[in-house]
Amino acid sequence: MKRFQIPVFIDEYEPGELPADIQQLKRQAEIARDNAYAPYSHFRVGAAVLLDNGIIVTGSNQENAAYPSGMCAERVAVWSAGAQYPGRKILKLYITARSEHKTVDRPVPPCGACRQSILEYEVKQNEPIEIWFSGEKGPVWKTDSVKNILPLIFDGSDL
Ligand code: THU
Repeated sequence: MKRFQIPVFIDEYEPGELPADIQQLKRQAEIARDNAYAPYSHFRVGAAVLLDNGIIVTGSNQENAAYPSGMCAERVAVWSAGAQYPGRKILKLYITARSEHKTVDRPVPPCGACRQSILEYEVKQNEPIEIWFSGEKGPVWKTDSVKNILPLIFDGSDL
């Protein structure tokens, strides 16, 4: 028997030390978050992706009275980028959230299904996607690839 350890690498930033392009991406994600349609959870999530042509595409969570029919902000953003700009690479993704019930002061990472969807684009474009995430306040976390937060990936090469 062998036991493996798989490390997770996260860089932590204070909001004041973010690079200029990330500050802009964060701002776009915050605008998207504030326009989320979240009448059931009251948990608003915004995502902004930066493409290799410099364009920023945003998404926010879209809920539904039939709960499972709703969609997360991250998938709205990456699928929208895939639909509007096919062939363009996604360089960076910023995610942020706020709640009407409490102050979200911890970085909010993408859910498992969103990680799998982001992975699909990383594999397709053969280049990692930087993922940045934060709450409405507090530190900002960054990881260089979705693979860091989705170890043991399952992708098309498994089929
Ligand atoms: N949500 C996202 O948009 N992204 C995530 O990664 C986690 C959850 C949304 C889905 C739902 O509308 C609300 O947050 C509560 O789960």
